[in-house]
Amino acid sequence: MAKMIGMIGTSHIPAIGRAVDQGLEETPYWVDFFEGYKPMRKFLQEEQPDIAVLFYNDHGLSMFLDKKPTYAIGCAPQYDNADEGWGVKVIPPLTGETELSWHIVNHLIENDFDPTVCQDIKVDHGATVPMSVLYPNHSYQGVKVIPIAINCERHPMPKPSRSYAFGKAIGDAIRSWDSDQKVVVLGTGGLSHQLDGERAGFLNTDFDQMCMDKLVTDPEFICQYSNDDLTRIAGAQGVEWAMWLAARGCFSGPVKEIERRLVAPISNTASGLQLLLPA
Ligand code: DHB
Ligand code: FE
Repeated sequence: MAKMIGMIGTSHIPAIGRAVDQGLEETPYWVDFFEGYKPMRKFLQEEQPDIAVLFYNDHGLSMFLDKKPTYAIGCAPQYDNADEGWGVKVIPPLTGETELSWHIVNHLIENDFDPTVCQDIKVDHGATVPMSVLYPNHSYQGVKVIPIAINCERHPMPKPSRSYAFGKAIGDAIRSWDSDQKVVVLGTGGLSHQLDGERAGFLNTDFDQMCMDKLVTDPEFICQYSNDDLTRIAGAQGVEWAMWLAARGCFSGPVKEIERRLVAPISNTASGLQLLLPA
């Protein structure tokens, strides 16, 4: 049985990737933000997970509005970086884990979830930024990654409660995989933010803190919100809470909070960071 060692929730703001690449971690704007990643990096360094199951959203790079899976799972041996408009980033690709990917797909379809299977996708900042900030100097090539995309761009989007249930089914799949490998679960995106329109720059850190509390003690509480609620309360891109909910859903029993950080704003976003371990 594969062992699930914990969950890290983290924002995936593109500017973080740029700060990493340009060595800006100790500069005044970034120092407080990056301080929060030290315990996360230490945890990963000490625990050495073999696999990262990474929930992200594709912001229109591989999955544009014309073809938008509600849920999609990478089943590829490697994931190259998408071109986000400034040329392809020269950072290492992510290494895949096809056996567990297919195990999850089979389990999901047997349990009434029907994800899109992706054997050839490029990943955007939703996946590359968390890996780059969690593994210094892009040292993530020793960990295999399963990118799982949740539609957060095109209406209709899956309900938050559905993404939590999706995560539950994935947790069951991982636990039923006959392997002694160690799995860390990453929920990326959020927290409150709105990138465009009249409310561009809108944040709601009280709501973010409350949801991080509930993620520990009562994740189903967050499932009461619709995507319209999240848009209103946490900004249009507040719907990226879906990935944190899916990641939390992977853990069936109680969890304990080891670290939490909320730095706002970073770029246009309330940047959240949380490490939860099975209790
Ligand atoms: C920003 C945040 C995001 O989640 C994203 O996908 C793109 C940009 C930002 O705050 O700049
Ligand atoms: Fe985003």
